[in-house]
Amino acid sequence: MMDQQQKTALVTGGNRGIGSAIVRGLAKLGYRVLLGSRNLTAGKEAASTMVGDVIPVELDLSDREVLKNQVQSILENHPAIDVLVNNAGILEYGSLLEISEEQFYRSARVNFEAPFDLIRLLTPGMVQRKYGRIVNLSSGWGSFDEGLTGPSAYAVSKAALNALTLTLSQSLPQSVKVNSMCPGWVKTDMGGAGATRSPEEGAATAIWLATLPDNGPSGGFYRDKRLIRW
Ligand SMILES: NC(=O)c1ccc[n+]([C@@H]2O[C@H](COP(=O)([O-])OP(=O)(O)OC[C@H]3O[C@@H](n4cnc5c(N)ncnc54)[C@H](OP(=O)(O)O)[C@@H]3O)[C@@H](O)[C@H]2O)c1
Repeated sequence: MMDQQQKTALVTGGNRGIGSAIVRGLAKLGYRVLLGSRNLTAGKEAASTMVGDVIPVELDLSDREVLKNQVQSILENHPAIDVLVNNAGILEYGSLLEISEEQFYRSARVNFEAPFDLIRLLTPGMVQRKYGRIVNLSSGWGSFDEGLTGPSAYAVSKAALNALTLTLSQSLPQSVKVNSMCPGWVKTDMGGAGATRSPEEGAATAIWLATLPDNGPSGGFYRDKRLIRW
């Protein structure tokens, strides 16, 4: 459990899949967790099954202005967000020439631009308070080292998210850390029933990065708590 200084974490897409396992895990460690979901009813339902200090908040990543307004209202009630987990994501199948423009731009919006918006809205407060942990849920399918083998819109948006991690880390003080991670192949709506890992196993590295000590790493890409190549 944490000491008296309870920290607050915001997890996007916390209503199901890996996000919900991250919310559970952080709440178990004593964090106040803001469970972000675009459908507040779904968020409330998920939160009602969880133990600890879990507060559902409405967060729809599809539209920049809507998202900004929602973050402003969250900050009115919770002015100090110490941890941001950019978990929400979408997977559109198809090659770059097959998919529609909408699929491509939607993937970019949810997987990459919205994390950028959230980082811009929440990181200045972390820098000011001299504490912050940002975790970006990426994927091996967005890794150049592994050949960018994912469906094109997904691969490009996750590679861009990784680039955001690295470039952001270069301008942050040591007290605010940002890392990318790949959860592996996880049994969720996205991963499918044939996947090899449970949501809890997929969430473990994200929780570790969200709770790094002061001397922990920043600007890396991790799987199973081990550094992997971009
Ligand atoms: N599962 C895997 O094998 C795997 C592998 C590598 C990386 N990842 C990454 O891990 C993360 C979580 O994946 P998952 O498997 O848990 O996915 P999932 O089961 O499909 O859940 C996705 C979550 O993202 C939310 N979301 C989607 N679009 C949104 C939007 N526009 N605004 C707000 N929330 C939105 C969903 O909300 P709704 O319920 O409202 O749709 C849901 O909560 C993703 O970033 C994914 O790319 C997963």
